[in-house]
Amino acid sequence: MMVEIPGVLTPDEVKQFRSLLEAADWRDGRHTAGHVAARVKANEQLAQDDPLAIKLSSFILERLGLVSRFVAAALPLKVLPPRFNRYTGAGSYGDHIDNAIFSVPGAPVRIRGDLSATLFINDVDDYDGGELIIQGEFARHQVKLPAGHMILYPASTLHQVTPVTRGARLAAFFWIQSLVREDNRRAMLLELDDTIQGLAADTPDHPSVVRLTGLYHNLLRDWAVT
Ligand code: NI
Repeated sequence: MMVEIPGVLTPDEVKQFRSLLEAADWRDGRHTAGHVAARVKANEQLAQDDPLAIKLSSFILERLGLVSRFVAAALPLKVLPPRFNRYTGAGSYGDHIDNAIFSVPGAPVRIRGDLSATLFINDVDDYDGGELIIQGEFARHQVKLPAGHMILYPASTLHQVTPVTRGARLAAFFWIQSLVREDNRRAMLLELDDTIQGLAADTPDHPSVVRLTGLYHNLLRDWAVT
């Protein structure tokens, strides 16, 4: 399941992020890739202990807790602190699948990546190329979203970032361990949630709203692993 989450950051916030990130201490991104992925990776990243990365990362983490669409779609149990990357000068990241398990710097915590997230920090007309291409079961999806918007997709999928041939592409990226590990179950819960919201908006007093809401929680109770 791929879900677009609009407006995670406001236009003013992305503007601030951009000006801070333009002056940041960018490093070669290959250092953080595994052996296989490093062969196809050509971008720059901020070190995880970079004070600016820590500051912006905490801001995004706090914000995510308030974005109801993110909470409904991801059903997050643990969220890895967002990292930051930049693609310029034909930089790209060829086909790869993300690691399964991540460590949290400075904490004895490990996170299983169920979902991958990319939060776009600059506007689509700031750069050419830089599409995130996600190989779905039946189709390839091309994703390039406005600044402040985010895409969530299953971490198990093959994906790539196409070469950035003009300008710079800035993004935050991170992984989420979900309460519900199976993508299809998460997709059904989101569909049920959306259906209940629609029904409750049209006929708030209909007794089915209460029954369906109960069903939602009982399914989540059955499927959630904490
Ligand atoms: Ni990746």
